[in-house]
Amino acid sequence: EKVVLAYSGGLDTSVILKWLENTYQYEVIAVCVDVGQEEDFAAVKEKALSTGAIKAYVVDVKEEFITDYIYPTLKAGAVYEDDYLLGTSFARPLIAKKLVEIAEKEGAIAIAHGATGKGNDQVRFEASIKALNPYIKLIAPWRIWDLKSREDCIDYALKNNIPIPVTKKDIYSRDSNIWHISHEGGNLENPWNEHETSIYKMSVAPEDAPDTPAYVEIGFEAGIPVALDGVKYTPVDLITKLNQLGGAHGVGIIDIVENRLVGMKSRGVYETPGGTLLFEAHKSLEKLALDRATTSFKKGISEKYAQLVYDGLWFTPLKEALDQFVDSTQQYVTGVVKMKLYKGTCTAVASTSPYSLYNEEFVTFGEDDVYNQKDAEGFINLFALPMTIRSLMKFDKENK
Ligand code: ARG
Ligand code: SIN
Repeated sequence: EKVVLAYSGGLDTSVILKWLENTYQYEVIAVCVDVGQEEDFAAVKEKALSTGAIKAYVVDVKEEFITDYIYPTLKAGAVYEDDYLLGTSFARPLIAKKLVEIAEKEGAIAIAHGATGKGNDQVRFEASIKALNPYIKLIAPWRIWDLKSREDCIDYALKNNIPIPVTKKDIYSRDSNIWHISHEGGNLENPWNEHETSIYKMSVAPEDAPDTPAYVEIGFEAGIPVALDGVKYTPVDLITKLNQLGGAHGVGIIDIVENRLVGMKSRGVYETPGGTLLFEAHKSLEKLALDRATTSFKKGISEKYAQLVYDGLWFTPLKEALDQFVDSTQQYVTGVVKMKLYKGTCTAVASTSPYSLYNEEFVTFGEDDVYNQKDAEGFINLFALPMTIRSLMKFDKENK
């Protein structure tokens, strides 16, 4: 029987590959999904085959990741617990989707993954797979086997002739893609330890960033970024460019304690340079393009959306319904925002939109034809009527 394994080429998933063969005599099809992580994919494929996989896939889904997962979340303005731009969270349903597609094509009966039993990722993978194909069996070796640590994994690897990475042991648990990199574990587990800036992979430390600010003009169409400094880019090129620029100025680094879905708190450092620029720019453009009532209502939608994404509820009717609402609000979120980057900060300093609801003629202290100041008196009389009535009552009762 065949099983599809979400394979990264690292120690854990290599051990899992062998373990699936040894324990269940499965034929393993290794699938490495390229969501933009820094990786030698040819070497990963080679390693899967030499470790015993009967077949190995590398699937490049970077563009789909951006257009179908990142941009909907950007348009929704979804940020988990006020800080986290969900970089790992929304990659999981897409990876799950690719695993299911290949399992169906190959006639595999199960999908295995290397997420631990303590985290969010197991939930996101498995909930997504269940939503897409309820007949596929799920195997999470970390919840089954008696290997308890990295040392156990290394022993298992040695016994089974699995090549162990020669690079020195990386103490952090990392996850990276075109949107972000996360760092957890190691000395970050004690929240009293300030993180070392040497952990950064996408960014320079803000204090080491240039002393002169940089600017970039981000062009949006219907809520989606399409151009930088007036030049159109493909989604992959656009985010890559913004990552380089944002990273060079130390933009988008956060260090937070977050609430995992499975109940515990965890501490993590995240680098999201380009993503942070896009979120701030998008937010600024919405200030021109959205009316007051929609802005206020959308805040609640953003929060709900973030929760769904974090919790792995991507393929759900509610998430789809929220997308419809969000898309309807984004129709006129078109225009350009000028971002200023300086030593770890990014600020929207100017914005323009052909559909702007901001009108200098109306707001000006000079004369205009639309707003008659005399109208304000009647407006205030009725607007404040409940207050007036209550006050009349109190005067009547208490002061006679
Ligand atoms: N805490 C973040 C999240 O839940 C990042 C998880 C990182 N995952 C990993 N396998 N290192 O989205
Ligand atoms: C893991 O436990 O596999 C990584 C962390 C998480 O999923 O939250």
